[in-house]
Amino acid sequence: MKFIGRIADGSTETTARLILLKDFERSVSSEELVVIKNGGDERPINQILGVLREGLGKNEFLSHTAYRPDVAYMRHGGEPSGAREVYSFVIKPIGVITENGIELNKIIIQPRSPVYLQEEEDKPLEKIVKGNEVLWMDAHLENHKMWKVPVLKNFIPYHVGIYGSTGSGKSWFTRYVLVPLYINAGYKVLILDWSGTDYVPYLQDSNEVEIMKITEIALDEEAILSYFQDKTYDFSRNDNVKDGFDEFIEGWTEKVKAIANLPSISKDPAEVLYVQLKEYVEKSINNITRKDWQSSALRAARRVFRRLKPRDLAPVMGTISIEELLKKFENKKVLVVDMGGTIAEAKLGFFLSLAKQLYSIMESGNDVNIALVIDEAPQYAPWEPRGIQSETSEMIKNLAALGRKRMLNLTLIAQGIKGEIGINASVRRNLNSHFFGRIHPLDAGGEGGALEWLSPYGINADQMLQLKPGKFYFSGAMNPSPVPLLVTYEPPGEEI
Ligand SMILES: Nc1ncnc2c1ncn2[C@@H]1O[C@H](COP(=O)(O)OP(=O)(O)OP(=O)(O)O)[C@@H](O)[C@H]1O
Ligand SMILES: [Mg+2]
Repeated sequence: MKFIGRIADGSTETTARLILLKDFERSVSSEELVVIKNGGDERPINQILGVLREGLGKNEFLSHTAYRPDVAYMRHGGEPSGAREVYSFVIKPIGVITENGIELNKIIIQPRSPVYLQEEEDKPLEKIVKGNEVLWMDAHLENHKMWKVPVLKNFIPYHVGIYGSTGSGKSWFTRYVLVPLYINAGYKVLILDWSGTDYVPYLQDSNEVEIMKITEIALDEEAILSYFQDKTYDFSRNDNVKDGFDEFIEGWTEKVKAIANLPSISKDPAEVLYVQLKEYVEKSINNITRKDWQSSALRAARRVFRRLKPRDLAPVMGTISIEELLKKFENKKVLVVDMGGTIAEAKLGFFLSLAKQLYSIMESGNDVNIALVIDEAPQYAPWEPRGIQSETSEMIKNLAALGRKRMLNLTLIAQGIKGEIGINASVRRNLNSHFFGRIHPLDAGGEGGALEWLSPYGINADQMLQLKPGKFYFSGAMNPSPVPLLVTYEPPGEEI
């Protein structure tokens, strides 16, 4: 601990300014942790741990709005005096250090109280975790490699959001920091790799990891119907055509398996299935007795099959059931679903099937012990859900609500927080821990923007817009510190 300054005039119980001793402005930076001996070194009332934010340099000789002798002198090439220079930081109190960890400070912070900079061996983060069940992330406080960041284990199933503009390091942070954290906490990790490029190439060599391709997985029948609905402009808005599809889809996976088992099949299985589907729908239309209904259904069916191609069936012709998928997971710690190579509707269809399975396990009263990582979350639960997205958004919300009691963690990753690049508000409300990386300017201000979360703690837009990749402000339920902290990590192999 190093004595670096004293509390200035105007402090309250929740905020105070630190005036730095001479020359400490050169070495003390924002985000450092300090201890205030409130009331003096001799008999402090309490000791408050806090974080430095909002640095300020003042020299009243150099006021830029008034003409003063020093300004005149400077304008003619002289060096102005630094005698009345004051450097200060806001201290945001994390809390009072007690035997049992950290507590809310309710005593006014006294002006003149001495302030001490926390140094490596002081291990300030250990002071805030006393009395709590914590795990340590393989990430550290900015500038302090030794200070690993603690996480409150019980709040892991209260869900996590990771936000940052493209290239801010969200997927890497998840892979290197959060996945190991979840495993440590006793969860298995199920990662949905939207494009198959963010996780699959990095994890495929590990024997703790199982990788599955989405096109091998059987979708549930409702999901298949939604898929066709999206592919065919809602069956050209004809209920008879829809019924034909619906009836054919009953027993879909068995039909797919039967085709795969046909002896000496020379044709593409998708083509065989396509012909069966088309014939079935046409036959069902031919059975319509009212002529006018029949002919409008025929027209609709022609439009539908002009639009739908045999290759559109391939993504929904997987045969591995979700149960079998989850079984493969039993002996592994991580399961990555490679969702590359198919269209968004099929991916969302798969997600619905998976989510329903997880939901039903939880609904029947079982814990799942799974952390479900949903990268590119706005694809599933966007600001304004369309089509199948309304179902996936609703599903995520339901999983979140039930998951809290059933050891399911949802980790949602998005480029933004609100609006068009963000996650649907009803889903976002269920995320209780957050990692904010470099943000898009559009995301800074306004209701629900990053700054609404962070500015009460002295973090401003300039800082958020300029964060380097891999640096995140960690806030919310999982963080034992009530004040967000800037955390980072070094990717393996990148240490200098
Ligand atoms: N901790 C780190 N230190 C240094 N560089 C990093 C760190 N984390 C990530 N990076 C760099 O940032 C790049 C982008 O990371 P990543 O793919 O995780 O971004 P992203 O936020 O997921 O982007 P997108 O929104 O486009 O998916 C990486 O290729 C890597 O070079
Ligand atoms: Mg990414």
